[in-house]
Amino acid sequence: MSPSWGLCDVLVFGFRCSCLEGATQVRHTLLFYPASFVPVGRRTYADAVNPVGSKAVLVTGCDSGFGFSLAKHLHSKGFLVFAGCLLKDKGDAGVKELDSLKSDRLRTVQLNVCKGEEVEKAVEVVRSSLEDPEKGMWGLVNNAGISTFGEVEFTSMETYKQVAEVNLWGTVRVTKSFLPLIRRAKGRVVNISSMLGRMANPARSPYCITKFGVEAFSDCLRYEMHPQGVKVCVVEPGNFIAATSLYSAEGIQATANKMWDELPEVVRKDYGKKYFDEKVAAMETYCNSGSTDTTPVIDAITHALTAANPYTRYHPMDYYWWLRMQIMTHLPGAISDRIYIH
Ligand SMILES: NC(=O)c1ccc[n+]([C@@H]2O[C@H](COP(=O)([O-])OP(=O)(O)OC[C@H]3O[C@@H](n4cnc5c(N)ncnc54)[C@H](OP(=O)(O)O)[C@@H]3O)[C@@H](O)[C@H]2O)c1
Repeated sequence: MSPSWGLCDVLVFGFRCSCLEGATQVRHTLLFYPASFVPVGRRTYADAVNPVGSKAVLVTGCDSGFGFSLAKHLHSKGFLVFAGCLLKDKGDAGVKELDSLKSDRLRTVQLNVCKGEEVEKAVEVVRSSLEDPEKGMWGLVNNAGISTFGEVEFTSMETYKQVAEVNLWGTVRVTKSFLPLIRRAKGRVVNISSMLGRMANPARSPYCITKFGVEAFSDCLRYEMHPQGVKVCVVEPGNFIAATSLYSAEGIQATANKMWDELPEVVRKDYGKKYFDEKVAAMETYCNSGSTDTTPVIDAITHALTAANPYTRYHPMDYYWWLRMQIMTHLPGAISDRIYIH
């Protein structure tokens, strides 16, 4: 399937096959094809590109994953990169590798997005490093994030709050603090959401609600910043779990053990250990899937930071997830639930 297909073409094709054959097998081929077998779409972004010069960009969550790769990539493009790292003060391996580049244009900064004082300190570090702070800072990439899993009845309020504190309130906190600098440069805010910020998924509610929140925040900010000349973009990656540290097999097991131990007796009894273990196993399988190449995500963020006319939303994901997202977001719930959920 070519990326130039319109949504209608895809949907009409999908439905004609589904209806004509009336067979679940066709539906499965079209809609349930294992994502790992479908190549990740490589969109070529054709657009006038602004000169990078020594524009300054701050990226959060650079200890690992997308943030780590992005910091190095933006540095190679000529940006002055401030790489916010959660564990800089603990000498994390990712931080050491970034520091080992020994470049004036790549500076790691201690930054826990949940801590107001660390965010304010990072603003000061950036401001004092700029040649002319009155000209501001070009870009902010809100990338730091955590995830978890578990059905609503398995998830504690504490977990909901922990995930929101990083993914949602962390994004809001950092954005508010850096906006005065970004506004001065008429720069860019790029928020890393997720396909799960557009469509929900069972057993992912703590993550989904934070990413839906990031989407809403980004839209409000985009409307407000338009008159100021600041562009706000959202990047919604698909499944790249195999390429980053968002989940690990040990992490899933540890989370599952804690969750089971803390479950209210009635929930434990009603669902039973067998059901619970099946859900954990499904999560483990999901975490072994996905693309191992983060290039589409890095390209999308780079385009958002450099293009004269960046897109509002970027969808670096394979065709399976792209089609699923279109169906989940454009068709009535009664249909999309039937196709993907029930
Ligand atoms: N991987 C995917 O499939 C996928 C899909 C869609 C969206 N995303 C989003 O992409 C972003 C990056 O995730 P990733 O996949 O690259 O995972 P990752 O490798 O775990 O990267 C997330 C980074 O955020 C850092 N972090 C965690 N809590 C933080 C805090 N309180 N303050 C500052 N930094 C913090 C982590 O630090 P430590 O490593 O030290 O914990 C890590 O470096 C996240 O927003 C995630 O939701 C990922």
